[in-house]
Amino acid sequence: MVTHLFADGIEDASDDEDEEGWASVSAADAIDLRYGFPFPESLPNEGLVAAAEAVFEAEGDVALQYLGGEYADRLDGVIAARERERGVACEAENVAVTSGSTHAIDLVCRVFLDPGDVVFTEAPTFMAVLDRFEDRGAAVAGLPVDENGLDVEAVADELAAREARGEPLPKLLYTIPTFHNPTGTTLPAARRRRLLDLAAQYDFVVLEGDAYGDLRYDGERVPPLAALDEAGRVVRVSTFSKTIAPGVRTGWVVADDAVVARVDRLNAGGVNRFTKAVVSRYVADGGFEAALDGLRASYARRRDRLLDALDGHLPEATWSEPDGGFFVWVTLPEDLDSAALLPDAVDEGVAYLPGAHFSPAKEESSSLRLAFSHAPPDDIERGVAALARATRAATE
Ligand SMILES: Cc1ncc(COP(=O)(O)O)c(C=O)c1O
Repeated sequence: MVTHLFADGIEDASDDEDEEGWASVSAADAIDLRYGFPFPESLPNEGLVAAAEAVFEAEGDVALQYLGGEYADRLDGVIAARERERGVACEAENVAVTSGSTHAIDLVCRVFLDPGDVVFTEAPTFMAVLDRFEDRGAAVAGLPVDENGLDVEAVADELAAREARGEPLPKLLYTIPTFHNPTGTTLPAARRRRLLDLAAQYDFVVLEGDAYGDLRYDGERVPPLAALDEAGRVVRVSTFSKTIAPGVRTGWVVADDAVVARVDRLNAGGVNRFTKAVVSRYVADGGFEAALDGLRASYARRRDRLLDALDGHLPEATWSEPDGGFFVWVTLPEDLDSAALLPDAVDEGVAYLPGAHFSPAKEESSSLRLAFSHAPPDDIERGVAALARATRAATE
């Protein structure tokens, strides 16, 4: 055994006690509305085969070599151009390509966080990211979310209170301002500006996670935080996991070039260049843009099916109505504990992720997340009917 030789902090990282209980419930026979996987027919197998063939044809002598060919090199520029279309001031040197945005966040944490540093996040938030903060030994504080995303005035109050008490202020605030995971909410532009003012006033980094920004189905686009940032305080991370495929696991950091240089160094040789080349060619050939409208239409139909099913089967609950992304956040009636209800829901035929899973403080919650991205639409409807049966049985 070599476990006693682990580096400091690593043992904590493998401590998954919080996952006992509801996480051991087998969902094998249930309709699975737990995870934000893209639906199978959305994955562009043929487009990626064609892009891979084109890469071999154009640069076969170097396509699999350490340094790769031009397609791999061009990906930073391809991403920078798409970021500029979203209003973000970005050149290729402001982009670091990573193995997905979770990896991007890990690298950003390594650039900024020392043990004991304070990180603010939304509560609830995307759980995989909490592990990244904990691995760095950071102290995570959750801030509330309402129907318009992060409650920025609550952030302001918490900052002022900490300052008054002489307590540590955050070094970094992680937010998912657009189609938040898990609540589906979007932060309005005015709150975005106020958040950036607070970042300047209290001197912290804003880490903007934008995995779903391209998947808007209704409403007006809101500028990314990075587009509103004139002070270089926003570090933005995004990904092709939801819009091309999780299997290419290609994401990126957009930031000031000094930050990007540190991220690139920590990236230790970088992301595999063959995947970069294939993704770069796929996007450059127009396959990506051409597929996006179809994806948006399909996801919008799934979302509508879920919202209609909630209306029809579970009117005693409340839920978010997201304009994009993959998730609806449902709050059960009568303060039912969504983790305690899960085994009964699975017996009725549906699996979801309970709110406690997304809580930095692991708090009990009457809310739960339903993903509409993966299950077939008829199953989404049946899954909500099963949730309604379990809810009624528990409240009778
Ligand atoms: C907000 C958010 N960021 C990142 C990810 C994961 O992205 P990646 O697959 O690029 O790590 C997800 C979902 O899986 C997510 O919801």
